[in-house]
Amino acid sequence: MAADTITITGGTPLNGSVRVRGAKNLVTKAMVAALLGETPSTLRDVPKISDVRVVRGLLGAHGVKITDGDEDGELILDPSAVESAHFAEINAHAGSSRIPILFCGPLLHRLGEAFIPDLGGCRIGDRPIDFHLDVLRQFGAIVEKLPSGIRLSAPQRLRGTKVELPYPSVGATEQVLLTAVRAQGTTELRGAAIEPEIMDLINILQKMGAVISVDTDRVIRIEGVDRLEGYTHRALFDRNEAASWAAAALATEGDIFVAGAKQAEMGTFLNVFRKVGGVFEIQDDGIRFRHPGTPLNPVIIETDVHPGFMTDWQQPLVVALTKATGVSIVHETVYEQRFGFVDALIEMGATIQVHRECLGSQACRFGQRNFQHSAVISGPSALRAADIAVPDLRGGFSHVVAALSAEGASRVSNVGIISRGYENFFEKLTALGANFTLEA
Ligand code: EPU
Repeated sequence: MAADTITITGGTPLNGSVRVRGAKNLVTKAMVAALLGETPSTLRDVPKISDVRVVRGLLGAHGVKITDGDEDGELILDPSAVESAHFAEINAHAGSSRIPILFCGPLLHRLGEAFIPDLGGCRIGDRPIDFHLDVLRQFGAIVEKLPSGIRLSAPQRLRGTKVELPYPSVGATEQVLLTAVRAQGTTELRGAAIEPEIMDLINILQKMGAVISVDTDRVIRIEGVDRLEGYTHRALFDRNEAASWAAAALATEGDIFVAGAKQAEMGTFLNVFRKVGGVFEIQDDGIRFRHPGTPLNPVIIETDVHPGFMTDWQQPLVVALTKATGVSIVHETVYEQRFGFVDALIEMGATIQVHRECLGSQACRFGQRNFQHSAVISGPSALRAADIAVPDLRGGFSHVVAALSAEGASRVSNVGIISRGYENFFEKLTALGANFTLEA
């Protein structure tokens, strides 16, 4: 069991090298895709994070045999004995994850039924599943809400359909892909999300035998097939983790080489990193990120779906922006409540105001509503130590970075949540020279 509270003595720059492996937001979906194959799949570069353990448990509960391969981070997933799982078992494994919703399409194809418990995930707004359920209904699934969760059934084979998403949701796009590949006939998805992790999921499905085309203007067409095979695939690197370490280098005045990071999937982040004043060097095997040694610049950012600036990049970067000279603005347009983490930064001496108004030019679903979704950060601030509690995965990373950049010793509780998405987090901090102790 990992320690849940950490005492951090700030003021030491993070210097050194860390390796990022497969993206949390691809690997977990790739594991679910293995359910669709008639033969075993091999997935490489799987990080040891708790979200992977959750999906492993859930797949195991459904009869998928999972073994570790010869290479570190290799999983072999054998779906030949897929079976229905008991409600209680699904609940026990699902924990705080939202992944169970993506089991629906594959299980409906294989077993004709699926069950979803109450879903968790990070507490960053309501995170509803209405798009998912609407899409599944359009494929012909019957959705029944029970006190213990949601039961889905497919009396006949699911049928391809025309779907238009009201918002380019990552999860709902994945839901359509994982359902349409084995449905009867063709599916046309409009308003799709096109994040690199989705493109990599499409690569995997194509390896399995699916026929999927990605057209212009967020249109994806899928021709359903009768049979899919297992795949062998090396997962796309975790660009969110890479961006987190990059921001940590800026905030602590450090110099971090992120092995495994690639330019193509991080272009939008790199532009902003450069505008803040950060220096990066793209190498064949990774990207080096460092503080310039001179004051940082303020920036104006609006988070958005790909190819925009990812919502998961803003929290660690906000810590660096507290050190920039001048006023920065971050308009969060993906989640309505993703600034809870700034309370701790304010307690540590940052000057941040959060507003209901849209402070940006991006059309946003949260305007004129009661959501505090724009942040104004005035710097530079010298952060000082505090006792803080981690609220969610990305907010948690930013709290740790804030403590690393602050004067004095901070106590950060609930840090266990960070292992949902960051592999070997404490080992990496040690390798970068962070000064901290874990409470037993
Ligand atoms: N939404 C709905 N109804 C739905 C589904 C989504 O209203 O049925 C809304 C959400 O409330 C949100 C927006 O649509 O406001 C976008 O949500 P999306 O479905 O795109 O997010 P997700 O699939 O639940 C994934 C990642 C998130 C990442 C987002 C956006 C995984 C497991 N999670 O979530 O990652 O922020 O896409 O890129 O892939 C993280 O890694 O810390 C994380 C939260």
